[in-house]
Amino acid sequence: MHQVLKNFIVLEGLDGAGTSTQLSALGEILKTKSREYHLSCEPSDGPIGKLIRQILKGAITVHSDTLAYLFSADRKEHLYAPEKGVLAQLNNNKMAISDRYFYSSLAYQSIKSDFDFVYELNKDFPLPEHLFFLDISPEIGEKRLSSRDEKEIFEIPEIQIKVRDNYYRCFERLKNAGGSIHILDGTAAIEEITLKIRNILGL
Ligand code: TYD
Repeated sequence: MHQVLKNFIVLEGLDGAGTSTQLSALGEILKTKSREYHLSCEPSDGPIGKLIRQILKGAITVHSDTLAYLFSADRKEHLYAPEKGVLAQLNNNKMAISDRYFYSSLAYQSIKSDFDFVYELNKDFPLPEHLFFLDISPEIGEKRLSSRDEKEIFEIPEIQIKVRDNYYRCFERLKNAGGSIHILDGTAAIEEITLKIRNILGL
């Protein structure tokens, strides 16, 4: 059974699902409340996250297992870094919201690496109290990403189809592990999605 971190919230989805947009929208709302909060994302902006960005851009090529190790190493820092880490923020009574977490590793890295291998690397990370999956079809994702100049290595329609399947496989595996998994229609209006999240979080 995984440990569940209260007040830790995670946003997940395919590329183009709108997790960054929702992260900013929630930040704007939290600014107007007395509630202290901390927003973060994976890959992080730390040294391991920067290396990962190079790989995602295609500037560096590594074995898929290596990328899985890097994401879990980046995650360890994201969670446990003294002062800046999610755990430290939660201990300071803040609400911590992250754009992506280990669910992304299970969905993306298990395309080329073995699912159980990726699961093993991530199994000791605590669960968020709430996970919001912004569900879109790979076709919608592709349309949304087509306006962006630089493509990352996973931003390919055939890969996104597998990513979505893997997300669902991962939710099935974790449905009784603790924490709540909320699957939201990622094609709804931005404000509508934010409102749904706010209602669930009581913001
Ligand atoms: P994304 O979060 O979409 O940020 P941006 O919009 O700035 O590109 O990009 C991160 C990419 O990294 C995305 O394709 C998902 C992928 N990813 C993994 O493959 N594994 C992981 O564990 C994480 C956190 C992300």
